[in-house]
Amino acid sequence: MTTDPLTITRVGVVGCGLMGSGIAEVSARAGLDTVVVERDAEALDAGRQRLDASMARAVRAGKLSEADREGATSRLALSTDYAALSDRQLVVEAVIEAEADKVEVFRALDKAVADGEAILASNTSSIPIMKLAMATQRPEQVLGLHFFNPVPVLNLVELVSSLLTAPTTAERAQHFAEGPLHKRVIRSQDRAGFVVNALLIPYILSAVRMYESGFATREDIDAGMVEGCAHPMGPLALADLIGLDTTMAVAESLYAEFKEPAYAPPPVLSRMVEAGLLGRKSGRGFYHYTVH
Ligand SMILES: NC(=O)c1ccc[n+]([C@@H]2O[C@H](COP(=O)([O-])OP(=O)(O)OC[C@H]3O[C@@H](n4cnc5c(N)ncnc54)[C@H](O)[C@@H]3O)[C@@H](O)[C@H]2O)c1
Repeated sequence: MTTDPLTITRVGVVGCGLMGSGIAEVSARAGLDTVVVERDAEALDAGRQRLDASMARAVRAGKLSEADREGATSRLALSTDYAALSDRQLVVEAVIEAEADKVEVFRALDKAVADGEAILASNTSSIPIMKLAMATQRPEQVLGLHFFNPVPVLNLVELVSSLLTAPTTAERAQHFAEGPLHKRVIRSQDRAGFVVNALLIPYILSAVRMYESGFATREDIDAGMVEGCAHPMGPLALADLIGLDTTMAVAESLYAEFKEPAYAPPPVLSRMVEAGLLGRKSGRGFYHYTVH
């Protein structure tokens, strides 16, 4: 049987933090050859540990067999060199939510990825895709593929076409997400925050303001939404899970785009980020955590 040359079997991921490691994991577990690039050896090491720990958890929970874990691990290659991405058919950028950093990554990808048909995707939560597309010579092959945290567990992918994304690029990326990755794809126009974060972030920021003003305790704010609205977790616990730096960066992108006060990060959020209180990943945010 021959494979259609447009079918994606060689995937790249840039950044192996919370999201990049999750995207790499689901790609390798789906049987795809996956290369992950990090910025330095230390970050690469942390990324490898994150991947190993997540797959070990899946094995313990009975969601992944030992043989499938080994198979997935054998399909994962980690590198600090963008040249390792040269033969990729699709690369998902998942570096920190900072426009200047992402623009640099897209410039580097445009040079490193040799396949003229390759798709360059961003996992950005909020930055308009056009800003990244214009850093390349191939804006018609750039789009947003926005996964949700934790990627192996949450089913959704937002697919964002810019004004210049070719329809065939979007169709191919949709097949990739729905086919091997078994995700549910929703499409959004290229506006900061897309569908989900344009709704979610003002809700989280309202909870932060409520906490900041002493209106209610963090536990009561979270219990209100868990017990009263059947949300799986409250807004402050969710902000800690997302990462307070990422939450703030998304709020800033939304504010820059729409200039609505509801999107402006409250001062306590800025102070916490300046203090390195980033939520679960740093061990402390609105709550305290044990860092593994
Ligand atoms: N955290 C969430 O819940 C969530 C959900 C959906 C989307 N996102 C988006 O995913 C992206 C990544 O977020 P995260 O939470 O994984 O952040 P993170 O801080 O956990 O990970 C970012 C990683 O990128 C690496 N990196 C930075 N610059 C790099 C470069 N030039 N080349 C290679 N690697 C580089 C860092 O070393 C780090 O490991 C952001 O755009 C964020 O908005 C986050």
